[in-house]
Amino acid sequence: MYPSHRRWRSTLCAVALAAIGLAGCDDGDADDVTDTDPGADIGPDMSPDPDPDMGPDPDPDMGPDPDPDMGPGEETLGILTAEQTRMAREMSPMPPIPGSPTNDYADDPAAAALGQQFYFEADWAGPLQMDSRLGSEGDTGQVSCFVCHDDQTFGSADPVGIGSRFHPRHAPGSVNAAWYAEAGFTWRGRFDVMWALPRAVFEAGAIYNSSRLRVAHVVFEQYAEAYGDVFAEYPLPPLDDLDRFPAEGKPGDAAWDAMDPADQEAVNRIVANVGKALEAYQRTLRMTTSDFDRFVAGEGELDESAQRGFGLFVGEAGCVLCHSGPFFTDQSYRNLGLEQTGDAPPMDAGRFDVVGAIGGDPFNGIGAYSDDPAAGQGFIDAVEAQSDDLIGRFRVPTVRNAAISAPYMHAGQIADLDGLIDLYIAGGGPAPMGTLDPALMPLELDAAQKADLIAFIEALTGDPVDDALRADTAN
Ligand code: HEC
Ligand code: HEC
Repeated sequence: MYPSHRRWRSTLCAVALAAIGLAGCDDGDADDVTDTDPGADIGPDMSPDPDPDMGPDPDPDMGPDPDPDMGPGEETLGILTAEQTRMAREMSPMPPIPGSPTNDYADDPAAAALGQQFYFEADWAGPLQMDSRLGSEGDTGQVSCFVCHDDQTFGSADPVGIGSRFHPRHAPGSVNAAWYAEAGFTWRGRFDVMWALPRAVFEAGAIYNSSRLRVAHVVFEQYAEAYGDVFAEYPLPPLDDLDRFPAEGKPGDAAWDAMDPADQEAVNRIVANVGKALEAYQRTLRMTTSDFDRFVAGEGELDESAQRGFGLFVGEAGCVLCHSGPFFTDQSYRNLGLEQTGDAPPMDAGRFDVVGAIGGDPFNGIGAYSDDPAAGQGFIDAVEAQSDDLIGRFRVPTVRNAAISAPYMHAGQIADLDGLIDLYIAGGGPAPMGTLDPALMPLELDAAQKADLIAFIEALTGDPVDDALRADTAN
């Protein structure tokens, strides 16, 4: 982990803890697998460290706070105190997008254009297992990424995903998802690399209810040329030979298991490459510059309610204990004690259920389809061993763009920001599984303070994604 990264995290924690009278601060220690340094953009006021022996407040007669970290000529922002101003500068701007070293195509524009086609492609979907707005039970070709990732943040307005049948969890936005590289992808962090996810999504009964062979056939029949241009190193095998390459199949199916291992390998490669193109596209979906960022950069105003909301966020509301740094998450897994509701399953053990699977996934960052297994190793080594302590934990999500991505939480349990703040006022939910995170405690916020917090969250909405990236370009 980069020293400056650790420093902003612990400084923020210390300040928030002081504000709400807690002792101790969990550093949420996951290895930093990003190649960016959030401190790099913050400038000289990051160091030296504030003097730990300084009391909370100097002599009130001294006039404006002589903050040791404020560089000469630097001024506090709006109505923020010097301390709040420094914290604001630690939470803005967004750092550069983390690299994806296990995917050589991650930043290739041709791969991104192909990935956009794949994002909207539905032909490779297997049969629906229930009637829904997607169609009738038994219909094929009805599911694309975009049916579940279609709001402004490329997330969903449905509490839980609706594919071939109900998915157990809520679809988060693809926008800015690349910044979760440190924690891993999905609410439970099931995937170490973003390109591994589509293989699983295609074959999940609840989502596409399809198979890698079917996906490979669609690539061969409809995308051979563009695929060949992007992935020239990997010529497509003769998928029109249905004896060698049956129309359907995945491991465990007789048709797949009877194939020549070299042909299985070639199909796996296609599906991994589809994932890499999809990742390249999703990396272009960004909403990173908001009114809050313009305010911190001195390029825009922020209404006072939102500024007070920021003060609460990093102060007495304690949000920053988990939603820290410029991506507004410490990339850890926590238990907010939420009940399962609606079409979600009655129990969800969260992180506990997946830590054992990440290292053995053949499509992970250290496997045969990784473009840099050595670069992927650090993440895998840092995955926690399974222990009861992980039960009921889910990834701390970003708060950026939350105002336009309701409903909230891993199963969309909370409909709006009002309800979300109420959860934190109550000090979390009833914790049907595992143990409530110790950083949660009941808050005393009045209606005006609630409105201020919401105004601040609204100020974190980034400029929208270019319309061209929302176009259905599938063949
Ligand atoms: C049935 C609806 C559905 C479809 C179709 C679907 N997704 Fe998702 N997506 C979800 C849900 C639900 C989650 C959260 C899964 C979890 O946490 O267990 C998710 C999670 C993700 C994430 C993780 C984001 C993060 O914050 O870590 C990415 C990336 C993603 N999907 C991309 C895709 C791509 C690419 C496709 C098409 C190949 C796709 N999804 C198809 C519902 C869907
Ligand atoms: C103990 C750590 C912790 C604290 C403190 C905390 N959060 Fe969260 N927050 C989380 C976790 C974990 C989730 C996801 C929980 C889940 O789905 O089970 C979450 C979810 C959210 C979401 C939903 C995002 C989405 O995409 O669904 C928002 C918005 C949010 N928090 C804002 C806040 C605000 C505002 C505060 C302060 C009042 C706060 N959080 C305090 C850990 C925390």
